[in-house]
Amino acid sequence: MHLVQDYFRHMKLFYRHTGMNFVWLLAIVLLAGVTEVIGIALLLPILELESSSAEKSMVSKVIIDTFGTLGIEVSLISLLALIVLIFALKGLIVFARSILAELIVSSLILKLQTQLIESFSRISYVYYAQLKTGTLTNLIFAEVDRFARCFSKFVSVIATSVTVGFYLAGAAVIRLDLTLGITAAGIVALFLFRFLVRQTQELSVAVSAENALAHSSLIQTLQSFLYLRASGAMTRMTGRVGEKLSTLINLRIRIAKISAILQAIVEPFAVVLLAVLIIIQVEIEGRAIAEIVVLALLCHRAFTRLMTIQQEVQRFNESIGGVKTIERESQLLTDHGEADGDEILTHLSSDIIFNNVTFSYGQVPAIKSLNLTIPKNNTIGIVGESGSGKSTLTLLLAGVIDPTDGTVLAGEQSYQDFKRQSLHEKVGYVTQDPVIFNGTVAENITMFADDPTDPDVRDRIMAAASAAHCTEFVTALADEFDTMLGERGVNLSGGQKQRIAIARELYKDPPLMILDEATSALDTESERAIQGSIERMHGERTIVVIAHRLSTVRRCDQIVVLSRGQIIESGTFGALVADKSSQFHALVEAQRL
Ligand SMILES: Nc1ncnc2c1ncn2[C@@H]1O[C@H](COP(=O)(O)OP(=O)(O)O)[C@@H](O)[C@H]1O
Ligand SMILES: [Mg+2]
Repeated sequence: MHLVQDYFRHMKLFYRHTGMNFVWLLAIVLLAGVTEVIGIALLLPILELESSSAEKSMVSKVIIDTFGTLGIEVSLISLLALIVLIFALKGLIVFARSILAELIVSSLILKLQTQLIESFSRISYVYYAQLKTGTLTNLIFAEVDRFARCFSKFVSVIATSVTVGFYLAGAAVIRLDLTLGITAAGIVALFLFRFLVRQTQELSVAVSAENALAHSSLIQTLQSFLYLRASGAMTRMTGRVGEKLSTLINLRIRIAKISAILQAIVEPFAVVLLAVLIIIQVEIEGRAIAEIVVLALLCHRAFTRLMTIQQEVQRFNESIGGVKTIERESQLLTDHGEADGDEILTHLSSDIIFNNVTFSYGQVPAIKSLNLTIPKNNTIGIVGESGSGKSTLTLLLAGVIDPTDGTVLAGEQSYQDFKRQSLHEKVGYVTQDPVIFNGTVAENITMFADDPTDPDVRDRIMAAASAAHCTEFVTALADEFDTMLGERGVNLSGGQKQRIAIARELYKDPPLMILDEATSALDTESERAIQGSIERMHGERTIVVIAHRLSTVRRCDQIVVLSRGQIIESGTFGALVADKSSQFHALVEAQRL
């Protein structure tokens, strides 16, 4: 009885996602089934209108009695009028069912998408870093769609099952023994086809997995156009995407084949059963024609519907993978949520202290037992070879990742106590690869927080842009600060993007500013300009600068040299250079071409 158990499990699951509306929908489905069978059963009194009352079937007698109590004359016209009335009612009910089902499905889609985006916004950075590109877009669009389709099919299966149930109940009122025989044969058939149904379920889950893979490979290829074209690797990559897509198609074809086999078997099976039914009724038992007609009609209807159930179950199984994927992935997203504290950080007005901090992404620590104090409003430079842990250090400083061991403190208090959002709001963060969002220059600077048409806001935008040396190139754009940037607008050069990113952080005016190789991709002139803006902030806020070019960190209050996750040297530029045996001295010498 796996089938029934599965159904109850799904019913609970859908109820959890759609609530009371789901119950209403099921009620309407039941009502539609009842009205349809009553409509058909009314044929019996019409066919038996001329028979003597002794020959009349039970259904006829009940209807004649009911008409009698209501004082309606039993005639062809009154019976037909009742049938028309009942089918009109059924039309109305079916209309309500479709509308309600559509409403439920639409709000289900929106709810799932919103929940996924919400969970995504809370995941930890470490989990994000290991997610494949495309996984989330595939989840939010393709898999949510499959989830919704699965729900629609589930409702169809219930609607059709209920109708079949009522047909059979109607038939049972006329001839119980035959109806039981037919039902038994139907159940046997369902079980015979069970293994095919199982197979589609497995294939359906595989489709989900392959879909995600194909999606992520495709997105990677699309995003790396320039590199792939220039390096001649384009056809190799598109070839790989092609392979994944054809694996996907092969899976779909296998599902379609199973579906076709099911349909091909079911129809002959139904016809044979119907033939047997007529032979028993007419040849062996010599029953009256009226009963045979209505019984055959009900049974035939039950059987054609049973066939659609097979197809609907099939479609349901094809899309059940979507439900499983959504359930599994949402759980993973929730399980990998960022840790959060309770306390709201109102001012970041103290020193930041790394107390014996270790952090590992996997086995090998990227930061090892690190101790460091960053005094309030000081500018600290961090240097070290690539992979030495500089970026990891900034992530700890920004509270994006938590130490595996040890603590990061703001004054006396551990970062872990703070509500993360309140901490992140105090941080300005510029990386080597800045993001320009779809929006105007002004919106990119305010980060959609304030209304750029407000004169006050406008002044602050101008001030930030000027400090980040943006004014000159922005005023040269067609619509100046209202020029659209990003995918549908002007594309800026790397240096210009970087300066917009810095203007954005200056506009935010955070007490802690982190620049992780922010100037590494820039030409010397842009770098100088930005260096000037960093120096102008000196003493106003805490600044942590990571730079490849050592000239950038020359004026820092303190320079920290990292190697393999540990601080090997620290001091002022002058003191470090003066020590001829220092690593820093060697670095400076190496850069002095
Ligand atoms: N998301 C990540 N997952 C696993 N390992 C990482 C991740 N980011 C960085 N690492 C590893 O951590 C070490 C330090 O990296 P990083 O802090 O980026 O160094 P740097 O910025 O100095 O080049 C490197 O060995 C790097 O391979
Ligand atoms: Mg780095």
